[in-house]
Amino acid sequence: MTDERIVPMRLQRFLARAGVASRRGSENLMTAGRVTVNGEVVTELGSKVDPLTDTVAVDGRVVGLSEGFAYLVLNKPTGYLSTMKDPQGRPCVRRLVPTSRYPGLFPVGRLDADTTGLLLFTTNGDAAQRMLHPSMHVWKHYVALVRGVPTEQQLDQLRHGVKLDDGRAQPAEVELIGADDARSLPVIPEGLPRYHAVVGLRIHEGKKHQVKRMLKAIGHDVVRLHRDEFGPIGLGELAMGCWRELSPSERDAIEMLTKTAAHAERR
Ligand code: URA
Repeated sequence: MTDERIVPMRLQRFLARAGVASRRGSENLMTAGRVTVNGEVVTELGSKVDPLTDTVAVDGRVVGLSEGFAYLVLNKPTGYLSTMKDPQGRPCVRRLVPTSRYPGLFPVGRLDADTTGLLLFTTNGDAAQRMLHPSMHVWKHYVALVRGVPTEQQLDQLRHGVKLDDGRAQPAEVELIGADDARSLPVIPEGLPRYHAVVGLRIHEGKKHQVKRMLKAIGHDVVRLHRDEFGPIGLGELAMGCWRELSPSERDAIEMLTKTAAHAERR
């Protein structure tokens, strides 16, 4: 399929989009003389390639955009930072995903270290940027174990858009989840504690600690937080700490979403 946005493109961008390495890693491969274009070694970082006609190889192996991007979903356990490395050496999600099989993989957005659940990974930097852009309104669903039992009036504040210290949160879809329905959720592994409740929230913003701050604003501290949906993607039966590739229909849904955004940007 011809895509006028990718012809021609900088070689390091091509390599990153082909999933060979991150942009910086691709530059290193180039300067190390490991990349050829039509059989010629190219070390010049500004060089451009036409993905439709040029043959790019790394260490003699031909790579192309048709190899596609990688998209994975991880069920993040608690205790991991949502970054690929941490200067202080704390545990990062990098340890949990197959970065040598998919060089250039990175998480789309963040979850707090103590939040569990769905974290999407990709090698497609453009798609990730679009999915995170506030104008995209990608819905995310969270379940939270909170101290105390919120009243309907308090939940209505979330439904109307509660005030936070950095501005009003957009209206959320909110529901109390009964103990029976919550039993299978990872936020209550030992059952629902007394004087606690499980709240389901669907929001399309991604401010720092947003869900915790929204619930705190109505008077309820979050004890455990789990994300089980990100846009069209759900965790399904994926066990905590495990990853899986997106199915073809999930990939299509993501690509459709990001193409719609690209189309809107160009107008
Ligand atoms: N909101 C939060 O407060 N924390 C998260 O990790 C995600 C959303």
